[in-house]
Amino acid sequence: MEKIVAANLKMNMTFNEIQEYIEKIKEYGNNKNFIVFPTSMYIPYFLNKPYSVGSQDIDINDAGEFTGALSPKQVASIGIKYTLVGHSERRKHYNETDEVVNKKIQAGLRNNLKVILCIGESLDERNNNQTKEKLKNQLINGLKDINDLSNVMVAYEPIWAIGTGIIPTYQDIKATAIAIKEIVNIIKNVDIPVLYGGSVNETNIDNINSIEEISGVLVGTASLKPERLKIVKEVVLG
Ligand code: PGA
Repeated sequence: MEKIVAANLKMNMTFNEIQEYIEKIKEYGNNKNFIVFPTSMYIPYFLNKPYSVGSQDIDINDAGEFTGALSPKQVASIGIKYTLVGHSERRKHYNETDEVVNKKIQAGLRNNLKVILCIGESLDERNNNQTKEKLKNQLINGLKDINDLSNVMVAYEPIWAIGTGIIPTYQDIKATAIAIKEIVNIIKNVDIPVLYGGSVNETNIDNINSIEEISGVLVGTASLKPERLKIVKEVVLG
């Protein structure tokens, strides 16, 4: 698979800041595998550019009486190709269960979106040697009843590495990516692309990118600074 760089802007930047940001990334965003995930209200300003645009989340429903929600059908209809599903911040702050995550993946696929399923263990789970079990449960439940995984990728994002500046060792990332691929291979019989996310930045990207089993990265904090994101993007995509 071709590698990807996904920039998750989360709930950041005012309208003026977003305009400046778009101006800056114009210089280096010349690649469809470079995907920006802006706050949903800014999405239209990122469309029709040489890079791709993704949605940070989608609803499980296509349309109807769901005030404030973001319809996967509307997302697809505006020209978006990707969506994140099950980011740990959604799971934590909005109580998204694996069951909801599963419905969101189905909603994304039903609307022809490419879905990036985010999974990862907490520090407690890691310290109690429960990482593999946690990831396995998230994969089994998240991918339940989904047979065609050709438009699904997994982003391995250890919760304790998100926004903290602390990342697992490269051996660890490699071993976990292999474990994720093995699990999906056993339950679905496919080789799923695995991205890494959690404190990816301009200083660690060379090493992360050298891990054979990693098909790209999800960048949060460092993506808010165009000059930092540029380095990450160039290492992975040229
Ligand atoms: P981070 O965020 O790069 O700030 O750790 C990554 C993410 O949440 O996807």
